[in-house]
Amino acid sequence: MNILLLGSGGREHALAWKLAQSALLAGGGKLLASPGNPGIAEHAELVALDVADHAAVIALCDARRIGLVVIGPEAPLVDGLADSLRSAGIAVFGPNQAAAQLEGSKGFTKDLCARAGIPTAAYERVTTAEAGLLAVRRFGAPVVIKADGLAAGKGVTVAMQLAEAEAAIAEIFAGRFGSAGAEAVVEEFLEGEEASFFALTDGSTIVPFGSAQDHKRVGEGDTGPNTGGMGAYSPAPVLTPELEGEAMTRIIAPTVKAMADAGMPYSGVLYAGLMLTAAGPKLIEYNARFGDPECQVLMMRLTGDLGELLLACAEDRLGTVEPPRFADEAALTVVMAAAGYPGEPAKGGVIDGLTEAESGGAKVFHAGTARAADGSLIASGGRVLNVTALGQNVTEAQARAHSAVGRVRFPTGFCRGDIGWREVAREAGG
Ligand code: AMP
Ligand code: GLY
Repeated sequence: MNILLLGSGGREHALAWKLAQSALLAGGGKLLASPGNPGIAEHAELVALDVADHAAVIALCDARRIGLVVIGPEAPLVDGLADSLRSAGIAVFGPNQAAAQLEGSKGFTKDLCARAGIPTAAYERVTTAEAGLLAVRRFGAPVVIKADGLAAGKGVTVAMQLAEAEAAIAEIFAGRFGSAGAEAVVEEFLEGEEASFFALTDGSTIVPFGSAQDHKRVGEGDTGPNTGGMGAYSPAPVLTPELEGEAMTRIIAPTVKAMADAGMPYSGVLYAGLMLTAAGPKLIEYNARFGDPECQVLMMRLTGDLGELLLACAEDRLGTVEPPRFADEAALTVVMAAAGYPGEPAKGGVIDGLTEAESGGAKVFHAGTARAADGSLIASGGRVLNVTALGQNVTEAQARAHSAVGRVRFPTGFCRGDIGWREVAREAGG
């Protein structure tokens, strides 16, 4: 069959790399991607599409006989692209619009947790600055303030002081996030270590899909402004099998059931951001898609057929296929970003040395890259490359990723040298 992958980041390059190995493409099947990037182009035919134009996506699927659409990023999900494709009888990996509210509306998710008894921070939904200010004063500092809707990762303030919390409320209701900030959630500050947990579901069957930890701050030692993620590793050993079991039974399973009971079955990958508190795992947030760069480390470890799994999700028969299998090794990815990121990144910096970087077994996934007119590879975004390696443990994966980074020639780029530091320290401590 033919498969269409939507998206253009490092997450989608990793998905394209695994999908290109799928038995679904046997017998002349093709992988198409839109808009893609130069790395994705090594595995797929790139096609131009406006994903906001659902009729155009359906027309392409008909013309190119697409048997499965894989939606990478959240925006088309929240925009209802999966609904349009399903209505046209096209198999799609990714939740419908109503189900994507688990990512698209923080208030929706908190209310669902409250109804289903899912462990999460205590909260209040507020729709005016006045109510927001009352709520932050009632909670007291530290307190967390979140714009309700999609805010490109910038809508959350963890306020250690009341003044910071009040400023965040003022900013949201002054319209900084547009309609995403028409409403806000004020919530209890949770203490603990964070871990990401992934599960695939077709709305009823649920299978665990691995764990990871990422590094959101731009600077070493987890300092400086937040980014989309400067690196990640998988698995996250802090999420022990026991805690993972607890997350499945107390968080993921009741969520999938509550969504089905509410008439909006969730189909796709459910990405839970967890806080491992003294009282057990609590849900920080859900995403309705794979994490970026967490997906890159998951794909590096996945040994089975990604296409078969995603199609089984799309066709409501996840229970009939072999569950996901992952290598026991650790995978670690280092994001190489363009100078200036997470502010305005320097565009056009020339990149070279990727073949040498991959010679030792590392994989370099492209995120914000482009081809210049003369064919050379240049930076075209904030996060540019994801240099990813496997190892017997996180320490070895980190060393291998850095040896590959050392062979990349990207003078206008930078990266963190300490991705995985918590785990490296734990491994050193025995
Ligand atoms: P989110 O976009 O909801 O994942 O929030 C971004 C980051 O803010 C998370 O990764 C956490 O580090 C932090 N955060 C969010 N909610 C809380 C909370 N209730 N307590 C402590 N930290 C939080
Ligand atoms: N790396 C964080 C995310 O994908 O949301």
